[in-house]
Amino acid sequence: MNLPERVKEVQNWLKDDLAKVNDTFNSVEEFRLKYIGKKGLIPALFRDFGSLDASLKREVGKNLNILKKEAEEAVSQLKERLTAKSGQDEEFDYTLPGMPFNRGNLHPVTQTMNRICDIFCEMGFGIEFGPEIETDFNNFQALNFPDNHPARDMQDTFFIEDDILLRTHTSPIQIRTMLKKKPPIRILAPGRVFRNEAINPRSYCVFHQIEGLYVDEDVSFAELKMTIEVFAKKFFGKDVQIRFRPSYFPFTEPSAEVDVSCFICGGKGCRLCKHTGWLEIMGCGMVDPNVLEACGIDSERYTGYAFGMGPDRITLLKYGINDIRLLFEGDIRFLKQF
Ligand code: DAH
Repeated sequence: MNLPERVKEVQNWLKDDLAKVNDTFNSVEEFRLKYIGKKGLIPALFRDFGSLDASLKREVGKNLNILKKEAEEAVSQLKERLTAKSGQDEEFDYTLPGMPFNRGNLHPVTQTMNRICDIFCEMGFGIEFGPEIETDFNNFQALNFPDNHPARDMQDTFFIEDDILLRTHTSPIQIRTMLKKKPPIRILAPGRVFRNEAINPRSYCVFHQIEGLYVDEDVSFAELKMTIEVFAKKFFGKDVQIRFRPSYFPFTEPSAEVDVSCFICGGKGCRLCKHTGWLEIMGCGMVDPNVLEACGIDSERYTGYAFGMGPDRITLLKYGINDIRLLFEGDIRFLKQF
């Protein structure tokens, strides 16, 4: 077949094929490759055009150009139709299962802290935060730890400069709050604290505390006891008992440590409570008048109570985890169990 006849033939095929193309990418692409792709029919005709008899070149060249233009226009129209349609693709199967996506969960300690904060907020406590880098004044001095006081040794401190340190407890938030607000003050202060301690299954250099503080006229130890009891029953279950043991903290007088009856054995004695029937959950006491005075609060007029607890320990107890380091390693396999 000579070239002019082949041009006619391709022109006919093009019409037939164009009628058959459907609105899918594959079909349009197949059409494009067949006619104008590098190895397609039309480029092949152009290649043979060079050796055509000169007398025919004018006529055939014209037809060939028309054919090429037709094919190119057809392809660009098909592509336009395809993009216009892709927004409302009827062929998409909406019943296909979705792509799996990983939803994280709150860290178990965060869950414990949120729960504790919720319970105290229901009782009228507000939440306060403070910086992790603190002054010696807020962390020690104002809390009635004078220079060289042996009680400073109770808390192995990471110092940054002489008077600047990583807070060893959340009690400095008491100071910050009392310095900026006047009584009545009723706050809960959750946060991360740091101690230069040997790392082992029971202690870590970073952990959390939640501090509570209530200062007003006529605040009594009885109110402290009642508040802690309401909290303990809401958090650990309505059947738990609490007991207060005398203790010592520089910033409270009198001071106590609070135990709850073991929520695993109900107080009979088990491995969790080391066969004592009791689990220690916090320290507390009446705010020492020296602390109130250091914050410019009249200790003749106002009294207050404070307490501090360790949500990490409470989380370990609650889930029966025996190594505190697991709480800080960020291992997803551990964390996603909660
Ligand atoms: N700050 C204490 C500590 O880290 C915990 C504490 C005990 C806080 C008794 C208090 C409190 O507010 O009254 O050991």
